[in-house]
Amino acid sequence: MRQKIVAGNWKMNGSLAGNAALLEGIVVGISGFSGVECVVCAPFPYLFQVQAKLADSPVLWGAQNLSQYDRGAYTGEVSASMLKDFGATHVIVGHSERRAIFGETSMIVAEKFRAAGDAGLIPILCVGESLSERESGITERIVGEQLDAVIDFAGVDALRSAVLAYEPVWAIGTGRTATPQQAQDVHRYLRARIASRSAEVAGKVSILYGGSVKPSNAGELFAMPDIDGGLVGGASLAASEFCEICRAAA
Ligand code: 13P
Repeated sequence: MRQKIVAGNWKMNGSLAGNAALLEGIVVGISGFSGVECVVCAPFPYLFQVQAKLADSPVLWGAQNLSQYDRGAYTGEVSASMLKDFGATHVIVGHSERRAIFGETSMIVAEKFRAAGDAGLIPILCVGESLSERESGITERIVGEQLDAVIDFAGVDALRSAVLAYEPVWAIGTGRTATPQQAQDVHRYLRARIASRSAEVAGKVSILYGGSVKPSNAGELFAMPDIDGGLVGGASLAASEFCEICRAAA
């Protein structure tokens, strides 16, 4: 059995007051079930609040980005060792917004992935195709290249303590979700691609689906054999929705 995981990606949202209510709601809401690992990925300035609020709860937490460099003259950057030092367990790497808006190449993503793993953080590696790529029929090639760039650089064994997330760009924040079968097809492909390097690692790595996951569609998505949970944006900003999605994976 692979670990079921639901991770919330708050993106650039939050405030001290709003986060307090959200975190308290999550802690209460997830107390009624087990069997799923719940993770909250918050903006850097709020990690201290997340650390304090989740300290005595089973909810894990982390960041949405990190530097590929370890220390030094990199103004504005945050290193893996800083996140680890502070108690974070997870970090999102290679989100499509980082790739598209901030110009992160597959090489940079691979370096960040390795930096996270080397520091003992669990990277949540995102891959996904754009709408035009899907319509051109090259989804598998795109996600395969994104995955290979990381495996070539960090080694397949690095996936033993990592999480993979398939996030079709056209489904992110659009309300348009991949059908469970569309998502399953890509998840199966990704697992097979990992299996071509190591069947054992492929069998163990959790692959999350992301892209307009909601309480209303989480159950049917998570029922697919290669979907091991979700990476949730918008719906992770409401405690009741996030907890319902976590429950659907439990
Ligand atoms: P939405 O759930 O808002 O579509 O965002 C998905 C996402 O990008 C999570 O990383």
